[in-house]
Amino acid sequence: MSNGIPFVSGGKSPQEGGHFEEFSQHPAFFLMRAWRECGELAEFDMGGRNTVLMVGPEAHEAVFRVDDEKVSAREAYQFMVPIFGQGVQYGAPLDIERQQLRMHSRGLASEKMNHYAPVIAQEAEQWIAGWGEQGEMDFYEGFADLTIKTSTHCLLGAEFRNSLTGEFASLYHTLGAAADAGGLQDPQAQKTAYEARDAARARLEELITERVEQRRASGEVHPDLLQVYMDATYSDGRHLSTSEIAGMIVWFMFAGHHTSANTAAWVLVELARHPELAREVVAEVDQVMGSDDALDLRVLRRMSVLEGFIRETLRVHPPLNTLTRRVIEDFEYKGHVIEKGKNVMLCPYVAHRLESSFPQADTFDPHRPAPDNPFALIPFGGGQRKCVGNAFAILQVKVIFSVLLHHYEFDLAGPPGSYAEIMPSLILRPSDPCVLRYRRRKA
Ligand code: HEM
Repeated sequence: MSNGIPFVSGGKSPQEGGHFEEFSQHPAFFLMRAWRECGELAEFDMGGRNTVLMVGPEAHEAVFRVDDEKVSAREAYQFMVPIFGQGVQYGAPLDIERQQLRMHSRGLASEKMNHYAPVIAQEAEQWIAGWGEQGEMDFYEGFADLTIKTSTHCLLGAEFRNSLTGEFASLYHTLGAAADAGGLQDPQAQKTAYEARDAARARLEELITERVEQRRASGEVHPDLLQVYMDATYSDGRHLSTSEIAGMIVWFMFAGHHTSANTAAWVLVELARHPELAREVVAEVDQVMGSDDALDLRVLRRMSVLEGFIRETLRVHPPLNTLTRRVIEDFEYKGHVIEKGKNVMLCPYVAHRLESSFPQADTFDPHRPAPDNPFALIPFGGGQRKCVGNAFAILQVKVIFSVLLHHYEFDLAGPPGSYAEIMPSLILRPSDPCVLRYRRRKA
């Protein structure tokens, strides 16, 4: 026990890493065990740094509302700095980071989203054009590949997308491999992976810099995020440096790519697991896609059944499950003091399985009403650090499924239970391979 907070059983000695080994095998499952055993607050040892899991809407609200200076995301996520680069996000002073977040938001304003929707639809149509009448595919891989195309197309423009080579995807993959549970424990721990990460980051910056310089030389103005970053100025009138622009792009792609690809893969698995519900979604898609209206925000708003399906998928399979903060000043919650130097952690996977917030939480129910407390459902986090890309993420998955479901139907290729939840990195994903069958729908 520590300050009345129950300590999770089963950890090794601090010298042997405490609970770190069990945690890193499957963070969401470990946190679920911690919650079942200890309840609202559960303390464990992440190999020298004690961490307190906080569960439930009240606990989430307390963490989301406290000042970053007291309970800090930036301190906990310092291991991301070499991935995004110095000078952006947690590698920049807080005031600069806030301005950068506003720049991201500007790139996702409604008029931009209206530009992105047809771009995403075009990519999805191009993808299915090569499918033929029927077949089988690893859709985890498929969606990862599709969303790298949609992200680069929306973020960096058509020219970059059209010159996209395997190199970009592979560099990006190398960066992703460096963002694992080890970073939460000791940012310096894995030297080899981190050397590869630094080389990949440097090469990505070269590729993005080339693109920025080409665009500057051409004098052209494009309706994408790259343009937003190129035109943006800080409050002192300074423009972003090319290195900062590269960092902004890597940051944004990183935050949005695997999270969206995973969500798409789970949506497909859940549609195939629930044919009755899938029929409702397809009927709505057909109705909207059958009209002559261009696919924009207004039209997408008419797809409420599909949206409910996506949101329920995010409840059951939230991609990010270790929302972490470093306690800078002792943090009091319900009479317990969490001492400075410890981490606190929120876990959507656990939060979304609370019967008090989600009756019959084990049932997949896309018609379930939103919980009364806005801090109960937290796939996108909350408070000041809530995901800035949440509307874009929903838009992207909605557009992809509007196209896919209008043309194809899908079946599981294995037993429903074989699509397991794994966490080889800090993102929850379906197990490998995630194969489904597709068949062209009859006209
Ligand atoms: C289904 C897809 C997505 C999920 C589940 C998701 C989830 C989250 C969560 C939980 C956080 C907060 C992390 C924390 O509090 O520690 C976050 C932050 C963030 N997300 Fe997303 N996200 C998704 C898609 C996207 C997309 C598509 C973008 C960009 C277009 C994006 C950009 C960001 C950014 C920039 C932040 C950082 C905010 C900050 O540093 O304060 N996300 N996301």
